Amino acid sequence: MNATAYAKVNLALAVFARSADGFHPLRGIFQSVSLSDHIAISYAEHDSVTVSGGETPADESNLGWKAVDAIRRAARISSPIALDITKRIPTGAGLGGGSADAAAVLGVLAEQFGVSGDIVGEIAEAIGSDVPFSLDGGTKMVEGRGERLVDMEPLSDFALAIVVPPFSLSTPAVFAEWDRLDGPVAKAMDNQSLPPSLRGGLPIRNDLFPAAVSLDPRLGEWSDELETLWGASVAMSGSGSALFAFFSSKDEALGAIDDVNFPTRAAEALTPVAIGWEPAT
Ligand code: C5P
Repeated sequence: MNATAYAKVNLALAVFARSADGFHPLRGIFQSVSLSDHIAISYAEHDSVTVSGGETPADESNLGWKAVDAIRRAARISSPIALDITKRIPTGAGLGGGSADAAAVLGVLAEQFGVSGDIVGEIAEAIGSDVPFSLDGGTKMVEGRGERLVDMEPLSDFALAIVVPPFSLSTPAVFAEWDRLDGPVAKAMDNQSLPPSLRGGLPIRNDLFPAAVSLDPRLGEWSDELETLWGASVAMSGSGSALFAFFSSKDEALGAIDDVNFPTRAAEALTPVAIGWEPAT
């Protein structure tokens, strides 16, 4: 069994004060993009997980493996499984790579084991805040901790140039810094930096950006440098460190990536993708 796990970009991310459960309610536009990990799932003699091409741990803390473990328990199935993950999505970048791996595994094994959509949803939420979105992916308005999803019109009038600087940020640390700074509201991108489909809707801003820059000022320098290089407004995905800007076509985004002549962890021109997952009933 094979699965493709697509990265996500938070086109918008408004953050609200931490709730009693320790998580921050969010409201954002999440978009799956054309950067993916590949996952091979097979029945085997022993449980195993391997990861090639990334810094993701190949043990029980691997989110893809947590998905195997949880869905097997839900289905009361004990067959040993080998999980082989080929990483292309950089880790600690705010691109949801680990969550995408978990969601892709859940999608495949839920069908294989006949687990209902409701149970899969509960498992997804327990594994991580971005996993429920990644199950169905595409373009969604996301609220709550990440579990309330509303389909939006698919977006197709832009490509993104994405640069991942050579350092990563810890998601809990960025949220804690946001609390320490008393919940800053980030500056929204101006309309002329946005594709027509995103003008006049939810403000396109990421409230975690000021907190991430406060934790690691290099991020602000990278953002300024890219804005100068590209002559475009730059935004951050998730809790960083991936930075991106909107371009009107993949060719334009590729041109912007070609201009980046400093060392990065990743520099890619990406387009929006729809995934689509139909839960069993
Ligand atoms: O759910 P996930 O494991 O991705 O969250 C990692 C950490 O990020 C949480 O433990 C929490 O500190 C923080 N977080 C948050 N509010 C969210 C999502 C994550 O405070 N909506």
